[in-house]
Amino acid sequence: MAQSKRIVVERTQAAAAARASEIFKSVVSDSVKRRGVCGLALSGGTTPRSMYQHLARSAIIDEVPWSKVEVFFGDERDVPLDNVESNYGMVQRVLLDNAPIDLSRVHPMRADAEDIDAAAGEYERTIRQIIPVGENGVPRFDLIMLGAGGDGHTASLFPGGKALDEEEKLVVACHVPVLGRRRMTFTFPLINASENILLLVTGDDKADVVQRILEGDAVPAHNGSVGTDGRRTAALPAARIDPENGTFHVVLDAAAGKLLSKNTVSKS
Ligand code: 6PG
Repeated sequence: MAQSKRIVVERTQAAAAARASEIFKSVVSDSVKRRGVCGLALSGGTTPRSMYQHLARSAIIDEVPWSKVEVFFGDERDVPLDNVESNYGMVQRVLLDNAPIDLSRVHPMRADAEDIDAAAGEYERTIRQIIPVGENGVPRFDLIMLGAGGDGHTASLFPGGKALDEEEKLVVACHVPVLGRRRMTFTFPLINASENILLLVTGDDKADVVQRILEGDAVPAHNGSVGTDGRRTAALPAARIDPENGTFHVVLDAAAGKLLSKNTVSKS
């Protein structure tokens, strides 16, 4: 279970991006203060991109101790890094090109590799070399940034996907039928080992999935999977985000949070 969960709702999408940027800065700075380094994993998607854009344009960009940040990616599409669809390419153009970061500390996923399974294993090895493990022996990121799709996917963990139930591997390649494409993605054992998770979701079209993620029945009557403990788990992938002994930061705009009951939202 998350040690703490804070769900904040900002009036507009821009205000949500700004709030997420502030949380990003304080978590990264705090990690560097405590550990001398920050292990960070970034997400693709237009909503996470709005935070990267805010970071790049605001004074915050100069307040982040970038020289001590190791940047990884929570998932990637099966395209070259300079392709317009690449998560790495988007983050580099929007954020990293505007940040004083040491590119030797930026670790792109190679989901365009001929042998994507081998590349996933390689990426996991790189994570294990750089990110210290927590008590459960799993590398513990200081911060993992996530978005959520309208179908409740997060990273590249899509409803019904085999990767949802992976309990050993930390990074896997997967085929996403709804996209007809391959992806590479963190799995939940790695995501939920993180010290902090920042989930940013905005837009009217996400209201239903946000309500189901944050208030839905974690034991759905239909097509949930059954964990090794026999407990059925949420059918919506993003409903399974739960940083053990970590902090779960959720930032929404009013449109995405409009179906939430009052007592779900943290008193900011
Ligand atoms: C990706 C992301 C994905 C994204 C969500 C939200 O590769 O696209 O990793 O998980 O964060 O789909 O995307 P939007 O904010 O664009 O809806």
